Amino acid sequence: MRVLVTGASGRLGHEVLARLRDDGVSVRATSRRPRTGGEVEWVVIDLATGEGLTEAVAGMDAVLHLASAPQGRQAYQVDVLGTRRLVAAAGAAGVQHLVYVSIVGVDRVPIPYYRHKLAAEKVIAAGPVPWSVLRATQFPQLLDDLLTASARLGVVIGDRAVLAQPVDPGEVAARLAARLVAGPLGGIEEYGGPQVLRFDEAVRAWREARGSRRPLLPVRIPGRLGRELRAGGLVTEALPRGVRTWADHLADTYGGTGRR
Ligand SMILES: NC(=O)c1ccc[n+]([C@@H]2O[C@H](COP(=O)([O-])OP(=O)(O)OC[C@H]3O[C@@H](n4cnc5c(N)ncnc54)[C@H](OP(=O)(O)O)[C@@H]3O)[C@@H](O)[C@H]2O)c1
Repeated sequence: MRVLVTGASGRLGHEVLARLRDDGVSVRATSRRPRTGGEVEWVVIDLATGEGLTEAVAGMDAVLHLASAPQGRQAYQVDVLGTRRLVAAAGAAGVQHLVYVSIVGVDRVPIPYYRHKLAAEKVIAAGPVPWSVLRATQFPQLLDDLLTASARLGVVIGDRAVLAQPVDPGEVAARLAARLVAGPLGGIEEYGGPQVLRFDEAVRAWREARGSRRPLLPVRIPGRLGRELRAGGLVTEALPRGVRTWADHLADTYGGTGRR
């Protein structure tokens, strides 16, 4: 199977390239910049303009679409219009399966980025290429980065009761590889980490792992956004789940025993 991986230079992309390499899959990887390495063929595409798309999809059996621009002026251009361009190019090239990585909660949690992801899901479902969508929960690195950035202000700011379910990106990559083998689902599956954590629990473990004395400054996120986040808008009951925990991530990153 020949697979095009968009967003191959990103966090999830690195895990996906490693997994597909181990599985012996032939990979073409995309970036906006010329790259080499990782035992794959790199090509340049830009979803915001459509540059390189026709050439990138040529000869591919499947596309794993990971590329995304969560913020900035080009967010809609990349995630929604760029996905539309990719779907059209893949359809014209006779690609047999397009797998899109989305996020648990895009249909519930009112964040602009999530609106783009949901719109991109719809573009894919309405397109000519047989498809699958995998909605994953947050990667632990994202939560870690958020807490680290907040702690620089001297306190960790957050809504205690927000629920999160960090999932290891390596396990998401394995799930995506399995989906490629299984073929198009023509639907959406969700995949989350092993534990649902309240924000204050996650912060407590993070502070212990970091040896941080930064206090948690509790705020209550207002409105529908807060209600959805506290009601579990970012978590899923779907099975199977990943096995690597938040504590495992903290142990890998900061040392310690993990699985606390
Ligand atoms: N992070 C999370 O917690 C999380 C959770 C669930 C799902 N997801 C989804 O998983 C996917 C990957 O997330 P990630 O955290 O690995 O992202 P990331 O590290 O931010 O990587 C984003 C990728 O998108 C590419 N990209 C950005 N703008 C582009 C453009 N205009 N044209 C082409 N490529 C472009 C970047 O490639 P270059 O810079 O090399 O061009 C990069 O490889 C995303 O779709 C995200 O929504 C993420």
